[in-house]
Formats: sequence, structure tokens, C-alpha cells
Amino acid sequence: MQKIKPTVSGMDIICAEQPAGATGIVIFGASGDLTVRKIIPGLFDLYRRDLMSGNFYILGCGRSQITDEQFQKTAAESIEDEDSDKIKSFAAKCHFLTGGYDDSALYEQLGMRIDKLNKLHKVDGNLIYYLSVPPPLYPVIVQKLHDADLSCRQDPQEKRKVRLIIEKPFGHDLDSARQLNSVIASCFDESQIYRIDHYLGKETVQNILIFRFANTIFEPVWNRNFIDNVQITIAESLGVGHRADYYDKSGALRDIFQNHMLQMLALVAMEPPASFEANCVRDEKAKLLESIRPLEIEPWSADIIKGQYTTGIIEGKSVPAYRDEEGVAPDSKTETFVAARLYIDNWRWKNVPFFVRTGKQLAAKNTEIAITFKQVPHSMFVEAGLDDLPANVLIMQIQPAEGISLQFQAKHPGSKLCVGTLDMNFHYSDIFGVKMPEAYSRLLLDAMLGDQTLFNRYDSVEIAWKLLDPVLKSWRDNPTDPDFYPAGAQSFAAADSLIESAGRKWRPIE
Ligand code: BG6
Repeated sequence: MQKIKPTVSGMDIICAEQPAGATGIVIFGASGDLTVRKIIPGLFDLYRRDLMSGNFYILGCGRSQITDEQFQKTAAESIEDEDSDKIKSFAAKCHFLTGGYDDSALYEQLGMRIDKLNKLHKVDGNLIYYLSVPPPLYPVIVQKLHDADLSCRQDPQEKRKVRLIIEKPFGHDLDSARQLNSVIASCFDESQIYRIDHYLGKETVQNILIFRFANTIFEPVWNRNFIDNVQITIAESLGVGHRADYYDKSGALRDIFQNHMLQMLALVAMEPPASFEANCVRDEKAKLLESIRPLEIEPWSADIIKGQYTTGIIEGKSVPAYRDEEGVAPDSKTETFVAARLYIDNWRWKNVPFFVRTGKQLAAKNTEIAITFKQVPHSMFVEAGLDDLPANVLIMQIQPAEGISLQFQAKHPGSKLCVGTLDMNFHYSDIFGVKMPEAYSRLLLDAMLGDQTLFNRYDSVEIAWKLLDPVLKSWRDNPTDPDFYPAGAQSFAAADSLIESAGRKWRPIE
């Protein structure tokens, strides 16, 4: 396939980036993996880019006996940057408080420590609680914060300043999500709650909105009259790593499909919001998710299939089967792959299939959204043997090679009727030449600014579980083995037949 490189000349870049004001950040579970891998580096990135006021502090909270100095050392070591002075001044703002999450004494001390640190770092009350702890602790911590009068739910003046960030998973089915939402809602107001889905912090995922709603040329064809099908792929080439214990109870449906996948689908398919304001965007996403047709889960009309990797070869290295991974039950039926055919029952999308799939240990890491348009209704080149002209395909490459490409037919130089598919590509790295900002930085900044647009509202979370609950129930009631695929595979028979029975083919994972 030939590549045409676009020229970007005279491009006006309009950026609206507002720095956050003075804030205190309390991280529950601060001795955990996420804090050093994502949260601290994400905050440092904002500090380095002057997107954070110099007046801030980070108060780690956890069961481990850690001193301020030890936490400062850990924080500094988690940052990769050449500016050691900057790292030093950042780390000096890190503190630690030890205590049991269910112990009221911790919250008493927390209140006093916050008061002290507010004074020390000149923070006037803006506060973020970040829950980076195992999900069973969410209700415990939230309730304790409320009981200790630290949630400010009832105080209209202070409420605006105190925010809660929660990591997924938000429940493990509809009932548990409702219970969690209800405990949280009794302790914090929805306007204080920031449910993180890190996919929404990715530049390329946010670009879906800009692409669709800041251009006029795509919107008129963005519907069932012109689009034949949409494919969304979240393929990973890694396995479960050290998270087997969590993953074996979760599986791909809960881990990725319920959140990242459905959120991307909502952005691709929702109606244009009236403004880029949190509730306008979240209303449209919720409406879209609500319009997804319930899945047919009977074996003879499967809209959804599951798979699990066995041993195979990835990048020349042999990798173990999922069931042989440390921490996985030897007869585990957990799915490491799931593919589904979804329909959206609304005016825009009626009967357009959305084929979605996600899996671990596949041939390559590749997240993309591919929109395949309808073929031309009539080929005028039939006599030259060109009666089956390929359709246009628009691909939004989310990662790792972030960009957009459009496939179209064009004349090749040579004989009068020489037609081929050309690929017009735009790569972020070619055009902007910079490292893509980390999803966590974006989301942390937005939370500090009080902008909930890129965070999940309680209703979207529940609607997504409502869609998947019957599938989870069916899998639980009929515990059969998933279909197996060798690690490193692009696809396998059950996944292929899901799409081929609808007369389409998966795009390669490469
Ligand atoms: C997480 C899942 O939410 O997303 C992981 O729990 C998955 O299992 C990860 O590996 C993928 O994120 P990314 O940004 O690497 O695509």
C-alpha cells in the first residue's frame, strides 16, 4: 500500500491550558505500585511544565511505616528527569501518614495533618483524596472521611474545594456498582467525584471529540447511510504480569471492556454535545450507552465470545499459557480475550455493526478504531474488471503509533485504468515531534481544576454494567472453558466466526 505524507503548513495551534491553583493531594495506598508508576510521575510532569502552583503538597497515606524522608526518597526515585533541582524541590513537598484504613484515629490525625500542611505549603483548602487502594477499601475510606467531617459534602463553600479521585474497577457487576455509588453518594456530592478511566486521558482518545466535532466534513457521513461497520480493537502483547491475582477474578470483560472499550465506543458514536462542558458530554455518552442493544448470549446466536491464551511465541520468546501464570488457577476459565458484535438502536446507527475486541498476549500492542464506509453503490469501471472497489477506511490509531489514516482509491500512474488503495497518514510524532503527554497528567490536572469532562459519571458506570450483567451471569451459570488461542496470535476461529458470520473481517493486529 502506498503512503502519502500530508503536509501541514501554516497550522494554527489553539491551546487552552490553565494551570492548577494551590492544592493538597492525599493519596491513600501511597506505598503501592500505581503511586510510583503513574501518580507521582504524573504530578511531577505538571510541576515541571508549570501547570501546578508551587503551593502544593502530597500526603501519602498507608499502612506501611514510612517516614516523610523515606517517602520523599521513593517519590524522587520514581521520577525520570534530568533536572535534579526540580525533583528535589518537588520531593520536599511529599509527606507520609501511617495508619489503618478502617481506624478512626487515622482520620483524626489526617484532619490535623491537612491543617498543618495547608499552612506550611500555603494551600487554602483545595484538597484531593486519591483512592489508589484495592476496591473493597473504597467504601471504608469514603465513609471514614465523611464521618471525620473531611468530605465537606454538606458545606457548599468547602465542597467545591474537596474532591475524590477513584480508580477503576467501579464495582464488579451492576449490584456492586450501585452499592458503591450509593455509599459514595452519601459521603460526597457527585460534583466532587472523579472516576478515572485512564483511556479518557489519552491524547488520541480525546482527539476523537476534536476530530468529530471541530470539522464539518466527517459529521455528515458519520451514520448508517455511509458507514458499513466500526471496529474497535484494544490488543495487548503483554500478559497479566504480576496482577494475576486481581485479573483471574476479573477477566477482560470487566478489566477493559466495561470501561475503556465502552468509553471509546461512546465517544465515536455519541451525538454532538451542545458544549464541551462536563455534563453536556457526559449526558450524550450516557444516552449512547443506554442505546446499545442488549447482547444475545444464547450459544446459537452469540454476539459475544471469550478466549484465553495458551503457550506461544511473542517477539521470538516463548511465553507461558495463562493457566500456568503464577497466581492463576490451573483450571481457570477467566477470559483473556473477548470480542463482541454490538448494535446501537438509535436513528444514527440502526443496524450498523460495531465489532469490538480486546485481548492479552496478542500479536502486537495496537489500539485503534477503524470506520469502514460503504462501498461505492455502482462501479463505472466494471468493464476493466473493477466491479468490487474497496471501501474507504478511516483509522484512528490510539496507540502505540498515534495518528489517523484514511484509505481511498486513486489512479496509479500507468495504464488508463490503473486503480489502487492509497493510505493518507498523519502521525502525531511526525507532526508534533514531542512525547505524548501521559494520560495521568491530563486527568490529575483536570481534577485539580475541577473539570469532570473526562471522568465517568455514576450513570455511565451503571449503564455499562447493565449491558454486561447478563453476559456475566450466563458465563457464571455455564462455566465452560473459553476458546483457546496461542499467545502471539492475531485471532482465532471463534473470534473470526463472530465477524465473518456478519460478512466482515477483522483488521490485522500488527
Ligand atoms: C488497565 C487494565 O486498565 O489498562 C490493564 O487493568 C491493561 O489490564 C491496561 O493492561 C492497558 O492500558 P494501556 O494504557 O497500556 O493500553
